Formats: sequence, structure tokens, C-alpha cells
Amino acid sequence: MHADHPTTLVPPLEDNLAGRATAVAHPNIALIKYWGKRDEQLVLPRVDSLSMTLDIFPTTTCVRLAPQAEHDQVTLNGEVARGQARERVVAFLDLVRAQARKKLPAVVDSENTVPTGAGLASSASGFAALALAAAAAYGLTLDATALSRLARRGSGSASRSVFGSFALWHAGLATGTATEADLSSYAEPVPAPGLDPALVIAVVDAGPKAVSSREAMRRTVDTSPLYEPWARSSKDDLKDMRTALDRGDLAAVGEIAERNALGMHATMLAARPAVRYLAPATLTVLDSVLQLRRDGIPAYATMDAGPNVKVLCRRTDARQVADTVRSAMTAGSVLTARPGPGARLLPQDTR
Ligand code: DP6
Repeated sequence: MHADHPTTLVPPLEDNLAGRATAVAHPNIALIKYWGKRDEQLVLPRVDSLSMTLDIFPTTTCVRLAPQAEHDQVTLNGEVARGQARERVVAFLDLVRAQARKKLPAVVDSENTVPTGAGLASSASGFAALALAAAAAYGLTLDATALSRLARRGSGSASRSVFGSFALWHAGLATGTATEADLSSYAEPVPAPGLDPALVIAVVDAGPKAVSSREAMRRTVDTSPLYEPWARSSKDDLKDMRTALDRGDLAAVGEIAERNALGMHATMLAARPAVRYLAPATLTVLDSVLQLRRDGIPAYATMDAGPNVKVLCRRTDARQVADTVRSAMTAGSVLTARPGPGARLLPQDTR
């Protein structure tokens, strides 16, 4: 772990007697992808993954215990959550309550700064912030590893948003008991000395996705003949990625990230029926990334469960990369992110 990383993220009970806590977490983008679960209930992945936490679009979540309330009350961006969105939060609070041996309902108020419908995953920052705020409000004392494990139960990628900069999420033990598997699957920081990257985000389509990543993953694992070969090659990608990060070799980091992401999309295209997130505008941006490389700018693309493209480049090239990508697009917007901080509790007086 980084020396500057606190080992206990959630302070002990006596600091949270008010039963109230507010946490902030940022989204992350995987350079080695998480795609496919081996246990849906415990959210245990089939592959290790590695990501960069961003410095933009934080989620701020306040959890307050509500002894008088009959049910949990969940507000997302000022609107009372209903249906699946609410159920996911309540199921997560149930986990925290079980760990804390408490039954009290809670009031959850979450603000996400991702522009609505920007097509950028918000479950990672959302569940990382909820895990930290809920653990503190219910008086759980968790170190960063335990917090990452807990966040994982809300959404797999949230396990990585507990940490800043680069984080590796271990798939964990494939054999043994459920408890052993659960304990072995968490994220941890990965040092990347000498790397000074930016991530240029091309939002080509702000619409909602046709297939949820949860469903798409399931279908890919169940039906795609390309899934197993990709999962195997992802192991090599991770090994190579760690070496590249160690060396601060941005071109190698980018090349590995790009091949890993394209491979993941190939597994989906081969699913039955196919899951295709890549849109014509995605390919146009990918062409502009190729052009940048031909022009001598190291720029590499990665895509998640949607048509938007994230372009990894040197911080010093970010403006040129953003301009080039923008001029290739007929609609949408372009944003630039840098490595961001891990999840943290807000001090009492700023709540
Ligand atoms: C393509 O973490 O959103 O972004 O665990 O089902 O909530 P659940 O999935 P989620 O999936 C993220 C998939 C991805 C790749 C990645 O972030 O590693």
C-alpha cells in the first residue's frame, strides 16, 4: 500500500455516535477489465482487474440512522429512488446492518456530479461512497481492504474506487468456502511511479444503455465462445500491465489497456444474442486515436459498457488529444480527467 494511505478509513464507533456520516468517492476506469462474475450474490469476478480512479465527477453520499423511520429512505440527486435503484441500495444497507448487528433504518442522500445520462458508470463511485458512509454511520470499524470488499458487494467496480490513482482488484480464491472466497476478493493500490497520465473522455452518446452491464456480463459468460480465451489472455495483460506501470511506460500501459478492452468487446460481440455497445461514433473516435498515434502522439482507447471512449495519453498531450477527438465528433462532449483520490469521509463541520 501507499505510505500516504490510511489503514483505517472508517473510524471506530465512538467517532460516529451521531449515527451519521458523509463520504465522497470518484469513478474509476478499468485498464484491465472486470467482465464476468463467478458468484453473482457475492459479486466475485472471474478475472482480476486494474483501474485508474478519476479526479472528476465525485459522488457525495450522506447516511443517517433514522430510529423513528419504518423503512430506508433513499434520495438520488434530489429525487426519491424507486424500483431497482432503491432495492440495490436497501440490499446494500442490509449487508452493512448484518455486519454491524443493527436493525435501524437509514436515510440515504446521494449526489452524483456526473452530468445526467453522460453514459459514465456511476455505480463505482456511488457504492464506494455508500459503503464508506454507511459503515461509518452504523459504527463499523473497517480498514481499507475490508471497505473495498464491502463496496464490491454493491457493485464490483466500486471495490476499486475505495483507492485513489491505480488499483488492482483481486478476483480472489476460486476454491474453498464462500467466506474464503469473499475474504480474498478486494482491491489494493498499485504504485505507478513516473506515470503522468490523463484520460480524455469522449461522450459520444448520453443515452441510457440498452443492456445493463450486469445482464451483458452474464450473457457473455454463458454464451460467448470467446469469453474463456479472453479471460485467459487477460491474465497476461495484467502481468504486462504491472510491469508497464512499474516502469512508468505510458505507451505500453495504453497498448495493453486498448487490447484488453477490444478483446472484452469481442467477447460480447460473440455472445448469443450479441451485445454491442460500440456505435458508429465510437469507431470514428477510435479512428482519430489511430491518427494521433500515426502523428506520433501516444494515445490509446478503452471502452466500457457503452459507446463512449476514454483515451489514455500523457498529461502534456491531453489538450491536443482532446482537440483531435472533439473535431472528429459530430455530437457529444469531451472531458479530461487525471488520477484522482480514494474514498474519504467528510469532516463533521463540512457536512
Ligand atoms: C465494463 O462494476 O458496473 O465497466 O458488479 O454488476 O455492478 P456490477 O458491474 P460493474 O461493471 C463494470 C464493467 C466495466 C469494466 C470495469 O469497470 O472493470
